[in-house]
Amino acid sequence: MERLQKVIAGANVCSRRKAEAYIREGRVKVNGNVVTELGTKVDVSDVIEVDGKRIKQVLNVYYLMNKPTGVVSTTDDEKGRKTVIDLLDPADRELRVYPVGRLDFDTAGLLLLTNDGELTERLTHPRHDIEKEYLVRVDGIVIRNLIRTLRKGVKIDEGRLAVPKNVSLLELDKKNQSTLLSIVISEGRNKQVRRMIEAIGHQVKKLTRVRYDFLTLEGVERGSYRPLKIHEIKRLYGHTVEKKS
Ligand code: URA
Repeated sequence: MERLQKVIAGANVCSRRKAEAYIREGRVKVNGNVVTELGTKVDVSDVIEVDGKRIKQVLNVYYLMNKPTGVVSTTDDEKGRKTVIDLLDPADRELRVYPVGRLDFDTAGLLLLTNDGELTERLTHPRHDIEKEYLVRVDGIVIRNLIRTLRKGVKIDEGRLAVPKNVSLLELDKKNQSTLLSIVISEGRNKQVRRMIEAIGHQVKKLTRVRYDFLTLEGVERGSYRPLKIHEIKRLYGHTVEKKS
């Protein structure tokens, strides 16, 4: 069961706000009856009409992918490179899914894909503070002072400081001269982690997103994906509820 305004917006008839207005104005019918209540729930068997025209309900799908490097996280690429959509089975592509946010071409790890515009908007809105955890293999030995600097926040462009939620030192590999860090951020600025590491004078050798909110890569091989479970979708929605002011 889904809220009527979401189903109307999901069918690409109009925005959710417009759908709400249509419902209030008495322009929407469910199974032949005018419905003016916004909270009304419908399912796929219900016949929904807007201004007398039946809408085609779209099923929402949600996938958790373990993205490999060398793949772009867009639906198509002007340079003809392989996209995350190419990694989906043809049947799973039919419902026009797209990635929730982006991972760089050279970044691997957890990427959500869906055709649910409402959830995408909520998850990518900075207000909702969704945590993303990255394993970062850094070239060179990152000294303690620089880790402290990173924790306090670094300037990565003209704007605000990029302040991570957490930075942990996982490994100092003296032999190969590299450092393994876990960095948790809740923003999603362009190339944020790479630029944070550059701001302390180092370079990222390898970047993997290992967590998105409560979701991890457990059981999902690199290059494959699984559908989200109902309770996981509900939990993501629950973490992005609109706060009433
Ligand atoms: N930060 C980056 O620098 N790249 C990514 O792909 C994700 C976060």
